This record gives sequence, C-alpha cells and structure tokens, in this order.
Amino acid sequence: MGQDTNLSVPSRENSISLISSGRLRHIAFIMDGNGRWAKKRGMPRKFGHSYGASKFKEVVRYCGDIGIEFVTVYAFSTENWGRPEDEVASIMKLLSDYLGECEKTADKDNLKMRFIGDLSPFDRAFRDRVEALEKRTADHKNSLNIALNYGGRDEIVRACRRLAEKGEPITEKAVSDSLDTAGIPDPDLIVRTAGEQRLSNFLMWQSAYSEFYFTDVLWPDMTPREVDKAVSEYFGRQRRYGKV
Ligand code: FPP
Repeated sequence: MGQDTNLSVPSRENSISLISSGRLRHIAFIMDGNGRWAKKRGMPRKFGHSYGASKFKEVVRYCGDIGIEFVTVYAFSTENWGRPEDEVASIMKLLSDYLGECEKTADKDNLKMRFIGDLSPFDRAFRDRVEALEKRTADHKNSLNIALNYGGRDEIVRACRRLAEKGEPITEKAVSDSLDTAGIPDPDLIVRTAGEQRLSNFLMWQSAYSEFYFTDVLWPDMTPREVDKAVSEYFGRQRRYGKV
C-alpha cells in the first residue's frame, strides 16, 4: 500500500514529469467493490455499479490529465455472466449508456476507444456500434480499453486458435500480436480496489512484468488522490524484468 511518508516516493509533480518521460504509459484498473459499497448503504448492488460507472469516468479523465496514454478497465468478465440476471442487465445498461455518451462526445473527448474481450455473444447492432466507435476514434490521442466479456485465459485460447487456423508458428510475438490487445503496450501498473489481491483472469499474458497496486478503497470511493498514490508508489519501485 502507498505510504505518504515514504521519502523514496516522488511528489505528484515529479510523478507527472516521470509520466511525460514515458516511464508509465499504461494503467489497468480492476474496479472491484461496487457491491460491498452499495451493501454498506443498504442499497441494491446495481446502485454500486451505477456509482462505479461515474467514478470510472472521473478516473479515466484524471489519468488523461496526468498524461497516462493508455487506460484499461475490467468492466465485465467472462465469469460475470454467473451473477443474478438483473445485476448483469444493470451493468450492460451502464455500458450501453456509456457507448451512447461516447457516440455523442467522442470527438471532444479525444479518446481512442477499444473494446477487448469476446464480443460474439452480443447482438449485431451492439457490435456494429462498437466497431463504428473504434473506427471513428482510431486516431485519437489517449487510449481507453474496455474489457467486456473478457477473460485472460479465453483471450489466449482465442489467439492461439487464430494462429493455428492460419497455420502460423506459435511464438511469443505471434501470440501477443493475436491477442485482443495487439498494438497496445503491456500495462505498467495494475490497480485493484476493494482489498482483494489477485488478478481474477485479467490481462494474464500482458501482466507478466506489470507492477501491482492494491488498495482497500472500494471502487465507488476511488479518487484522483488514490490514483496519485498508486502512481507515486509505482515510481518508488524498481522494475528489473528478470534482470539484476
Ligand atoms: C466488481 O465489483 C465490478 C464489476 C463486476 C463491474 C464493474 C462495472 C462498472 C464499474 C460499471 C462499468 C461501466 C462502465 C461504463 C465501464 P463487485 O460487484 O464484484 O463488488 P463486490 O466485490 O463488492 O461484490
């Protein structure tokens, strides 16, 4: 966890200058704790997701403000279909509403939108909207990747299948280039809220050398200040990539 008193941790201003030097390009978020946040308030879980969706927008905006080029969020996993039907429906509604907002504001937001995950179970109309938004925003500055019906194992299997179908040799580069995240740099930092310290099938291939930041803060309580703490702690670490 981040410690404000740790002298090796850079200030926010230093962090911003380190970000602009390219040492932290990609942050991925596991937005956990929506259900607990709602339960604490005696509200249905979907209320937590709804508040979580507004936090997601605030955090994405803030990451752009401090110069983060790539943000990836875990919005809905391949396992999340196992939740009660009305909860699944509420998350899907939030995503569809967000898509609608992006369709209106995409040019102003300057975000390059990309959906990762297996979108095949979604209807044609939804997939067409996603595709159109991705195309329309393809040359925008900062990237926002939304993991939807996403599972790291599923993504690796789909990538290997594609290679096998093409009869191509399965190398690390070929797998990377066949993942949903092809062309996106691996996450430098993965932030998980709500106290759990696991990856839960998120970016399993891409996180080989990522740094992790775990916080007890529930996602709907997430703040720019907490992002600052994660970033400061990241810059206090040494990344060795298996070397000395
Ligand atoms: C995990 O919290 C959160 C999810 C499974 C859904 C995350 C979705 C959102 C924040 C809304 C997404 C919307 C957009 C627009 C991207 P949990 O429900 O597992 O919380 P709990 O562990 O406290 O039960």
